[in-house]
Amino acid sequence: MKKLFKILAIETSCDETAASVVGADQEGNPILLSNVVSSQIDLHAKTGGVVPEVASRAHMESIIPVITEALSEAKKQETRTENQTIDNKVIEQDLNSFLQEEIDYIAVTAGPGLIGSLLVGFNAGKTIAYALKKPVIPINHIEGHIYSAFINKSKKDIAFPIISLTVSGGHSSLTLMKDHGVYETIGETLDDAAGEAFDKVAQLLELGYPGGPIVSKLAQKFREKKTAESQNYKLKIENSSKGIVFPRPILNDGTFNFSFSGLKTAVLVQVKKMLIDGELTQDQNEEICAAFEDALVDVLVTKSLRAIEKYQPKNFVLAGGVAANGYLRKVLQEKITVRFPEVNFIIPEIRFCGDNAAMIAVAAFYHVIRGDIKAWNEIELDSNFRL
Ligand code: KG4
Ligand code: ZN
Repeated sequence: MKKLFKILAIETSCDETAASVVGADQEGNPILLSNVVSSQIDLHAKTGGVVPEVASRAHMESIIPVITEALSEAKKQETRTENQTIDNKVIEQDLNSFLQEEIDYIAVTAGPGLIGSLLVGFNAGKTIAYALKKPVIPINHIEGHIYSAFINKSKKDIAFPIISLTVSGGHSSLTLMKDHGVYETIGETLDDAAGEAFDKVAQLLELGYPGGPIVSKLAQKFREKKTAESQNYKLKIENSSKGIVFPRPILNDGTFNFSFSGLKTAVLVQVKKMLIDGELTQDQNEEICAAFEDALVDVLVTKSLRAIEKYQPKNFVLAGGVAANGYLRKVLQEKITVRFPEVNFIIPEIRFCGDNAAMIAVAAFYHVIRGDIKAWNEIELDSNFRL
């Protein structure tokens, strides 16, 4: 079925080179036609974190192949829905005309992020827009994460106000969204982002990169062991003076802000204390990870619930790389269901939690709908772009 319009989106704000094509179906809803992500995780695992210069060079290498694959996948997807046979060779040859004739808008991440990384995708999109005389839509990366919750949803599924807890390697924020394009940041991190704290704790314990999934896995092991030991595990851990309990930074400061650098320091102090007896055992690592995850999740969940109480949103979105965290998802889901059953809690599919361009395309989709589009020479890159 012919799409009303199509958007090619490009995202390179940190360490994923990503491109996606989203179309508008006959009812005017977004439909995902392709979503290609080239991850640099292996590259950055060697250094235990993202080295900006290395990231931008890797974007340079991947950007054209990633855009080409996104166009190719989108064309195949359309051919499939039209019940035509797919001839890969014909599809590859026709990509230029697909880009010229069928893509109506170019969307680019315009910030926030690493400047050297942002520049690659931003300039690629701007150049396509200039050469092919296409309108362009600059998208805020956090806005993209919020829309990751609505990638495979119809526009009727979006009910305002929305509160989004966006937690990733670069950001931790609570955003109030009263309408498309109307944002208020009600809280944000004063220092480290939640994902950054996971990564730093993993680095401290020499567990590898990215830290989130590894720390979370060890924490889960600790909880499973404790549950097996005692049905009353929760009571025991939370009240036991023996168990490790890390501080909950600025939990009761009356704001919706976060601060995680003190938590990271508390982990360091604990590790040093334990190291006096020699190397950390697997059990000790697991216990530290669980206590760290407990503290971080407690702060995120408590402030989210207070924000819901104050702003009474219809939807609550959990987005960003850390939204892949099973424990955070579970605790937030349980608490919201019990205390605010009227609030619709939305978590994006795991593949849309980390950085991707489908979220940028869907955010751009709603800009197009309200006519908020620009020319190639009207857009600006801002590595500190605020919503
Ligand atoms: O959104 P994202 O891909 O990139 C940024 O915009 O930063 O997020 C990456 C971050 C990393 O810090 C990574 O450790 C964290 O998300 N992360 C997790 C999990 N999976 C990824 N943190 C906690 N638990 C996870 N399962
Ligand atoms: Zn991100």
